[in-house]
Amino acid sequence: MSEYKETLLTKDEIENAVKGVAYRIHKDYEGEELLIVCILKGAFIFCADLVRNLDLPCEIDFISASSYGSSTVSSGNVRIHKDIEYDIAGRHVILVEDIVDSGLTLSRLKSFFLSRNPASLKICCLLDKKERRQTDIEVDYSCFTIPDAFVVGYGLDYDSRYRNLPDIMVLDESVYNH
Ligand code: IMP
Repeated sequence: MSEYKETLLTKDEIENAVKGVAYRIHKDYEGEELLIVCILKGAFIFCADLVRNLDLPCEIDFISASSYGSSTVSSGNVRIHKDIEYDIAGRHVILVEDIVDSGLTLSRLKSFFLSRNPASLKICCLLDKKERRQTDIEVDYSCFTIPDAFVVGYGLDYDSRYRNLPDIMVLDESVYNH
């Protein structure tokens, strides 16, 4: 039996959407310098593709944060394992996240970043599970709104696996309901 229920998004669909979002960011920040903050680990592939399509001067930093252990439901407790290295005061910052689900992770991270006085702070995500939102966090750039299903691939994991899949797949419930 397959571990996957279906292919939700193919690598070509992802590539097109990432280019579209990069173009929107380019238009919004023309003439500015950006600091892109990749939220590890899930956003590493998305962020790498995004910045390669972004025709703007930018620096890239990384923060490692998580709210999931090996379950598929957000704990709401966001742990920062590794902070960024740059000072963001007075800079235009975009947080790049893989997926917004309840929104708890990004709400916490947003407050954390705003307390450091950036010139501006926006949020860019690959996937948005809008119907699961528990906070009023605003996502400025999103590639896809997806239904309530647990997905893996293109950087997203379940229990540290599947990040290397080129497409985004819906994981079969039998993988995590046992
Ligand atoms: P939130 O705090 O509920 O918004 O959860 C956001 C984090 O949960 C993301 O950064 C992912 O690491 C993880 N997550 C939420 N949904 C999924 C999914 O469908 N697949 C893989 N990870 C997910």
